[in-house]
Amino acid sequence: MIRTLRVVSRGLTNTHPALRRFWHPVALLTDVPDGKPLGITLLGERWLVARLGGELVGMHDRCPHRKVPLSAGRIVDDQVECAYHGYRFDATGRTTLIPTLEPDVPIPPKACVDTARITTGFGLVWMCLADDPLDDLIDDRPFLDPINDTFVAGPFTTPVSAGVLADNFLDSAHFPFLHAGTFGADDDGRPTLTVTRNGWRITQIDQQMVDGAHLDQAEPSTAVYTVAAPFVVELRLDRPGGSDFIWSFVCPADDGRSVWWMVHAYPLGGDAEQIDAACALQTQVGIEDLWMLEQMEDPTVPLDIRAEVHTKADLGCLEYRRMLIDIAALTATVPA
Ligand code: FES
Ligand SMILES: [Fe+2]
Repeated sequence: MIRTLRVVSRGLTNTHPALRRFWHPVALLTDVPDGKPLGITLLGERWLVARLGGELVGMHDRCPHRKVPLSAGRIVDDQVECAYHGYRFDATGRTTLIPTLEPDVPIPPKACVDTARITTGFGLVWMCLADDPLDDLIDDRPFLDPINDTFVAGPFTTPVSAGVLADNFLDSAHFPFLHAGTFGADDDGRPTLTVTRNGWRITQIDQQMVDGAHLDQAEPSTAVYTVAAPFVVELRLDRPGGSDFIWSFVCPADDGRSVWWMVHAYPLGGDAEQIDAACALQTQVGIEDLWMLEQMEDPTVPLDIRAEVHTKADLGCLEYRRMLIDIAALTATVPA
């Protein structure tokens, strides 16, 4: 007997237009070279990040002359030079040079490219494809605090949508099953959650046992999760000896691809062996998560909460679904 109602509508995809109104991580700062633009894909569109005049600039990765990617070019005199016919573009996207034109011939006004808002935080470059981002980046002071050692697990490139990756990071009921081999063995899998929503942020507080690579044994701790729309999740583990931070950052590249970084700030006293062990542990945790999530029939978060079963252990994930539903209802804006 078929007992379930099959809801077939797709969930929130990585190219939903309302996602333009939020900040998204697109690359590690260390991935952006000096003399060349870096091509990235965000929300199904090709953009580039370039260092021009000491500033990071986000620019549409398509030359207005013959539509080739400008990221194939190079940086000359703080401008992006197209590799095909040598047009040059300044930090505002204006064409400053068309080599085939005599110097006294005006440059056609159409010869320009869109630019995007860009900022930095947590060692990453962030881009917003609208003029009016609906929320700021979360506070990065714990990342900058000299007491903490910072390191990155990933990036993982996966067909799983950004929403599913954020949802998984917030979901603590899967630890004793999926992560029994890494850190979840001492967890009872019955989180007692306190969940609150404030605009584009969700806070979830959970008591749990932590068995980290840098701890001698499992310790009781309070896990404070902060979700910042649409796909940022901060996990702050308050334990007797101090606090550890893990941030899950996802770039919604296109409908078949997300790029996932897990950035850490742990007080490890600069001990390279402990840093390597903690990074290896989190990398293994990420591999365990992706092994499961990549088997989903449709790796998107449904925009209908009736499409899945939820219990009280899913309170935070349920609130996250409500937030994604609110995002999907937003109107998109396009860059000026
Ligand atoms: S295609 Fe870029 S200059 Fe011609
Ligand atoms: Fe997990």
